[in-house]
Amino acid sequence: MNFIDLPRMQAAHGAMRLPGSKSISNRVLLLAALAEGVTDVRGLLASDDTARMLEALRSLGVEPVELGEGNWRVQGCAGRVPVLRAELFLGNAGTAFRSLTAALALAGGEYVLKGVPRMHERPIGDLVDALAQLGADIRYLDKAGYPPLQIRGLKTEDRGENNKVVKIRGDVSSQFLTGVLMALPLTGVETSVEVEGELISRPYVEITLNLMARFGVRVHRQGWQSFTVPAGARYVSPGVVQVEGDASSASYFLALGAIGAALDHPVRVEGVGRDSIQGDVRFAEALAQMGAVMDMGQDWMTAARGDLQGITLDCNHIPDAAMTLAIVALFAKGETRLTNIASWRVKETDRIAAMAKELGKLGARVEAGDDYLSIIPPDAGHPLQPAIIDTYDDHRMAMCFSLASFAVPLRINDPACTAKTFPDYFDAFTRIARPAPVIAIDGPTASGKGTVSARVAAALGFHYLDSGALYRLTALAAREAGVDWADEAGVAAVAARLDVAFAENSVRLNGREVGEAIRSEAISAGASKVAALPAVREALLFRQRAFHRAPGLVGDGRDMASVVFPVAPLKIFLTASASVRAERRMKQLQERGVSADYAAILADLEARDQRDRERPVAPLRQEPDARLLDTEHMGIEAAVAQVLAWWREVQHA
Ligand code: DC
Repeated sequence: MNFIDLPRMQAAHGAMRLPGSKSISNRVLLLAALAEGVTDVRGLLASDDTARMLEALRSLGVEPVELGEGNWRVQGCAGRVPVLRAELFLGNAGTAFRSLTAALALAGGEYVLKGVPRMHERPIGDLVDALAQLGADIRYLDKAGYPPLQIRGLKTEDRGENNKVVKIRGDVSSQFLTGVLMALPLTGVETSVEVEGELISRPYVEITLNLMARFGVRVHRQGWQSFTVPAGARYVSPGVVQVEGDASSASYFLALGAIGAALDHPVRVEGVGRDSIQGDVRFAEALAQMGAVMDMGQDWMTAARGDLQGITLDCNHIPDAAMTLAIVALFAKGETRLTNIASWRVKETDRIAAMAKELGKLGARVEAGDDYLSIIPPDAGHPLQPAIIDTYDDHRMAMCFSLASFAVPLRINDPACTAKTFPDYFDAFTRIARPAPVIAIDGPTASGKGTVSARVAAALGFHYLDSGALYRLTALAAREAGVDWADEAGVAAVAARLDVAFAENSVRLNGREVGEAIRSEAISAGASKVAALPAVREALLFRQRAFHRAPGLVGDGRDMASVVFPVAPLKIFLTASASVRAERRMKQLQERGVSADYAAILADLEARDQRDRERPVAPLRQEPDARLLDTEHMGIEAAVAQVLAWWREVQHA
């Protein structure tokens, strides 16, 4: 499983240009394809969902031409789809699947439309029923009411008379209405669509109407109940269409600002603003209602931290961006209740269930209903815990949970699922979100790095990670469980389950104090052996990264700089010759009243050095960007002073 580990973030600032809107991109591509004339589309979103739409259009004989930098040229087919027999694969792109189903049902050819397994679990029966009223012949190839579909399109002679009325349900997905409306000009006759039940996600229908108008088709509507496409309506290219930035994608960065940006350095998104036609811009109002400091211009928005309070909000108008609110709720005072979100259940995944489960892993208190979600933020009695978050092949799960890293370090599984709408999301995120600082100190055994690291941490008020202790604890726990130190899978399983608690001057394994036990010579040798096993290192990786909390961390070990905290702004390689280290170890043992033999200690230390240096995974070595701190002739105080001096230097650089 691929993953990204996010350290605890503690500040956000900067500006970013948003990728193009998914909703606008896929609608504009279809309208441009159906229109008369050539359309230049500027700022098209490059993502999985738009790639599926572009592929489908190619299969249908429309050849969008890429001009570079998000600009495309589409020669429209003037309502006559060139290829009349095709099988289309549309992945999990709901916008492409629903709108192409409708358009092809009225286009006159024979088509098969398929998607990924999840697409085949997302209902489409209401759309098919509506199209059947227009005379379209659509069959379910698997389960009734769900894709895949076989479409035998309407013949010209079946198009019927003016004043047709089609009824459609509006309470499952607004994309059904959008699909039918965008397809209706293909019939040439006047048709009205009447919505049964409450129409959800209305702003998305507004995007549809707005874009149809730009392509020359004005829909007459009575409230949100009835929509009429006039006789003879046909799409004509407006020439150039500029795609706005994606307002749903903006929500993550505005939330970053609301959680972590100082008033004088708000987070700024460019590409959407006051003039936007996307409903999700109203996410900014929800953030303001929670107490964030928001500002907005024609095509930009900013957000900064305010005193965040929980709210109860009907989210019908911002179904996608509302997911982001569920995470902002963790940083607000009091309960946040998101209502009217039943549509979440039929999206990329069952988003209510997924959200409740993953928030639960963080230790948040959540209540999920059929159409609502309630989140109670952490308090002293219920602090959040680091967690491994699953994303359910849902781009928005990955993106909104990234914000929880402002509370605790996180691992997010399958981060590449953001490619659906925002392929380089995590690059953009890490440019705006600033992690708590970390100082990585590596070095051989008995170099004094443990003492130096702990003192530096105390001086800075940072947390301290003694990563060697985790390998020692693993060796001890394996021995107690009767697992051989050479049994890689067995020891890795022990490492993954390790029940440890660190406190000042205390290390507990399964509740029992083991501070002394893990320092014995036998366990030291065992630690060095289990540390050479790749599966053991993998099992301990996130556990180590989970120490990366605010206000900062000093981590000591062998691979702090190279593997565990490669982004550390200060990396130090702390060492001394084997003979000096052996003397220090001997003195330590003598102080504890243990008799010690210098030659044996030196031999043992050299053997461990060799094993740590020569192992194929994460060997001990000085990283090119690490500073060398040779403590051969240096006391602890001087070494600590040197590290602190370097830290000040790095901070002011
Ligand atoms: O730092 P220490 O002596 O307590 O480490 C115990 C063992 O664990 C040592 O043999 C090396 C190994 N180790 C490691 O491989 N990687 C780390 N980050 C820390 C320790």
